Formats: sequence, structure tokens, C-alpha cells
Amino acid sequence: MIEAMRNKFKDLFDVQAEVSAFAPGRINLIGEHTDYNGGYVFPAAIELGTYGLAARRNDKLIRLYSNNFENIGMITLDLDNLVFEKDDDWANYPKGVIKYLKESFPGINQGFDILVEGNIPNGASLSSSASIELLTGWLIKALFNLDLERLELIKIGQRTENHFMGVNSGIMDQFIIGMGKSEHAILLDTATLEYDFVPAKFGDYAISIMNTNKRRSLTESKYNERRSECESALASLQQELNIQSLGELTMDQFEMYQMLIKDEVQRRRARHAVSENERTKLAHQALSDNDFEKFGQLLNDSHTSLKNDYEVTGMELDTLAETAQQVEGVLGARMTGAGFAGCAIALVHKKQIKALEDEVSKKYLAKIGYEPSFYHVGISDGVKTI
Ligand code: GLA
Repeated sequence: MIEAMRNKFKDLFDVQAEVSAFAPGRINLIGEHTDYNGGYVFPAAIELGTYGLAARRNDKLIRLYSNNFENIGMITLDLDNLVFEKDDDWANYPKGVIKYLKESFPGINQGFDILVEGNIPNGASLSSSASIELLTGWLIKALFNLDLERLELIKIGQRTENHFMGVNSGIMDQFIIGMGKSEHAILLDTATLEYDFVPAKFGDYAISIMNTNKRRSLTESKYNERRSECESALASLQQELNIQSLGELTMDQFEMYQMLIKDEVQRRRARHAVSENERTKLAHQALSDNDFEKFGQLLNDSHTSLKNDYEVTGMELDTLAETAQQVEGVLGARMTGAGFAGCAIALVHKKQIKALEDEVSKKYLAKIGYEPSFYHVGISDGVKTI
């Protein structure tokens, strides 16, 4: 792909690219909607991702082109005037990153051209947006030789999401895309940002990614609403408990104090945040013990909690996950990412992958009216120069 992109870059911009990079997408094994509640997450970077090329210019223009959005065409920006414009669509992600990078690095004082192309399906909950954010940052770091730490870039990606795009997301996606390591998942404590690389080895089992093919847009979703429901629940608990986040609570403590949360919906949201955090720690232990059955059961429990307590699944994701859970050789299945649509994952015996796809496709088509897609991809490094 990158060779074809080099030729395209030359055609589009009339110069050779100076730098090239790749940023992966991600799945989250478990630990959903815990990252803005001070809990644990357990994601892995995947080999689907976004490729990019860039070269500096002698003026103050920034030109951006995506092979995935040829209909939108070339977007031309002024380095000194970077503001959100709805019509700029995908280009708002790089724009936000460039704006915030420039604040920290005044040495970014000339324009540049960027070409990108990705193979992460859009709106599939595999973090195509964090992928483009980190890719942009990495290209600019390379172009201007910036002394930019990965963690700083990760935070700039999250800031872009929160303040430029208006999505109050946590740090999981940018973190795993910035820090990922081939064949490893990361157990991240979002309260402290301490993390551990964990070999993502499942013996005779593999992770299947199943796409609902229903598009989800984070900004339009109820994501921000869930976050504020959790904040309200936390505020109620803080009347009697000296805690900074829901992630500090065990399930036993939660049960003892949950009646402080008067609103029944908020109580369920908090219960998910607390129980999911416990499951994530248990899943980490189960994987370390090669106890794949236990790991699978935790995936199933996670899905149920996201369905009933957090209410972020919907018919499409439920059909995928719950059908998969019934297939022989499947140890567990759950939605992954923000939810509402996008993808689910299943832990399936390698010999049963075809059976899983056949069975899930059949039931999904009958119920939803169109087919899901499946991906089997390896676990990748984080953003890197190529
Ligand atoms: C999205 C957000 C993440 C995280 C997940 C849910 O992917 O970007 O920060 O909250 O949803 O776990």
C-alpha cells in the first residue's frame, strides 16, 4: 500500500514524501467504559490501521488528502488558523492535533502536505479516529524532528477528541495506539497511567472481530451522556465515601453504598463501571494463568453488563455477541469499544472460526437484514515510522 501511496503523493503534491508512518487501530479485550472512571482497560493494537506520508512546504499552507475520502478531495488549511469546520469532516482530527502540537512546539512554523489511507472500517469502534490523530502527530514529529514523548502525543490526541471534536472520551484509544506492542495487550490503570504489557497468547484460541456494519458516530452517540451519568453517581457516593473515582470501589463496597445513588439509571451505570473494573482485573489474571474458559466467561459477563446496566449495545451488537456465545468452540464474546454499533469480539477455537462466521452470519442476516463482516488480524505495534 505504501508504495502506491508514494506515487500518489508525488502526483498530488508534486514532491517526494519526506516521512512515512503507520498508526494501528485497536480492540479492547475487556474494560469498557472504565477509562473515564479511573478503572482498568485491557486493549490491544491491531494490524488494521492508517498509513500516512508527509513533506514540508515553503509556505504556511497545510494540504490534507485521504484516499478513503476522495469525494471530499483536497483540504487546504492555514497553519495559523486552525478551527473546527464541519465540512472538513475527517480532516478535523489532524487539524486538532496540529493546533495543539503547535502550541507546545513553536518550531512548527511552515506548512506541509499529508496523504493518508487507512484500512480500518470507519465508525466500526476500532478507533479509526485515534489512529488518524496519532498518525498525524507522528508524521509532524518526524518532519520537524520534535522532542515529543509518546505519552505527550497520546494526551494531545485525547485533547483533540475532547476539546476539538467535543467527545468526552477517556485515554484508552490514544494510549494503546501510541504504546502498543506486537503480540501484546496492555493492562492500563487509567487512574495512574501505570501499565503492563501482557502477552496476548490464547493457545488454541483466537480473537475474531465481528463488525455489525452499522455505522456509529461517537459524537452523535450517547457517549457523553453516559460519562455524565457516572459523574453524577460518583458525586452521590462522595457524600459518604472519600473516593476520587468509581474505579476505586470494589463490588462489595459498591453494594454497601449504592443506595446513596437515588437515581436508578445512574446506579446501574455505576454498577457497570465498578463490576467491569473487577472483571478486567480478573481477566488479566485469567490470561496470565492461561485460563481461557474463565477469560471467556468474563467477556460474556462484560457484554451482559454493557447491555443491561450500561445500555450501550443495541440489537445488532447483541445479535453478534449472543449468537457467537452459543457457537461450539466459542469461549466468550462481547462488544468492543464505545458500543451502540461497531464491532464485537469473540474468543474462538481456531478450528471453529469458519463455523462461527457461518452461524453468526446466518442468524445476523435473518434478524438484522444485512451481513456482518469478520476480521482476523494480528496484534500490532503502536504508531511508528515505516
Ligand atoms: C471509546 C472511547 C474510549 C473508551 C471506550 C469505551 O472508544 O474513545 O476512551 O471510553 O469508548 O470503553
